[in-house]
Amino acid sequence: MGFKIAVAGATGNVGREMLNILEERGFPAEEVVPLASRRSVGTEVSYGDRTLKVKALDSYDFSGTDICLMSAGGSVSKEWSPRIGKQGCVVIDNSSAWRYDADVPLIVPEVNADAIEGFTKKNIIANPNCSTAQLVVALKPLHDAATIRRVVISTYQSVSGAGKEGMDELFEQTRAVFVADPIEAKKFTKRIAFNVIPHIDVFMEDGSTKEEWKMVAETKKMLDAKIKLTATCVRVPVFIGHSEAVNIEFEKPITADEAREILREAPGCLVVDKREDGGYVTPLESAGEDAAYISRIREDSTLDNGLNLWVVSDNLRKGAALNTVQIAEMLVARGLIKPKKQAA
Ligand SMILES: NC(=O)c1ccc[n+]([C@@H]2O[C@H](COP(=O)([O-])OP(=O)(O)OC[C@H]3O[C@@H](n4cnc5c(N)ncnc54)[C@H](OP(=O)(O)O)[C@@H]3O)[C@@H](O)[C@H]2O)c1
Repeated sequence: MGFKIAVAGATGNVGREMLNILEERGFPAEEVVPLASRRSVGTEVSYGDRTLKVKALDSYDFSGTDICLMSAGGSVSKEWSPRIGKQGCVVIDNSSAWRYDADVPLIVPEVNADAIEGFTKKNIIANPNCSTAQLVVALKPLHDAATIRRVVISTYQSVSGAGKEGMDELFEQTRAVFVADPIEAKKFTKRIAFNVIPHIDVFMEDGSTKEEWKMVAETKKMLDAKIKLTATCVRVPVFIGHSEAVNIEFEKPITADEAREILREAPGCLVVDKREDGGYVTPLESAGEDAAYISRIREDSTLDNGLNLWVVSDNLRKGAALNTVQIAEMLVARGLIKPKKQAA
């Protein structure tokens, strides 16, 4: 007997990827129900070689469903996740709505798997922001080896991180440039085609953006509250794959060779680091892949114990859908959830 899984936001970038990954990894699902807004009722989505028809989230009865993989945005999650959790269905949420709630575990399985035990307080588990997920996968093994003191990070984030509308905007603007049509900026604040924009999410009082603040707060919650982190998050005209230039200061000495060896063995990491033309990974090559790719590992001679890295990953997979499905797999593997049908 398998699990009944709802995928809320199934017509979106992350939801479609969740359906792919559930099928690819052979998740023990007896039934998968795609949900979205009323606008999408009847829309067909793929689950392996099957076609499923989307139902409306707001009229769905969750009482017989075991797990809801939620990627329908923050306001939908704020309203619906507690109600779904109260019906005995565990929500694994991709939005930022619950990440900073002390009663909600924020999980990257390679980093803080044991923190999942607290999920029953609200029956909600949070998935981190895409740029944080790939970062902490790379930082965790290095922190264990040499204790990270401070991280300075610059991100180069793809438009798919802003949902399907973000991808459409890059496509439309690029086409408009070539045919000399007028260019409209709707989703992004400035033109994204052939440009970069140093602004993701809203501005905070101290001048940082919410995306930058999320990287700080989530790294502290999942890895170590003592780590100091400062970020500049930038949107770039890339469809899929976030890249990060990461400078790390450690308490203890660590060489580039040692870091390379540690990262080669670390779960979720793949080192591609040849000091030659093309000996590194770009976002285009990360699309459709699961790993956090790590390249350009080198010592920073301006610090006592400093390293630089380049980290690239598919933001729709490790940054969202893959991590969500890995959390669901952990619930099953640790016996933290049983199929309701079997229990009845
Ligand atoms: N993209 C990333 O890299 C990434 C990474 C981490 C986390 N996330 C988070 O994941 C969530 C989804 O992102 P996305 O990129 O997949 O966005 P998206 O492509 O814009 O898709 C949004 C999904 O939410 C659904 N939705 C919107 N309003 C709804 C409502 N009132 N009731 C039910 N469903 C509703 C949409 O359904 P309709 O088609 O019916 O409108 C669609 O399926 C966001 O919270 C985002 O912050 C995204």
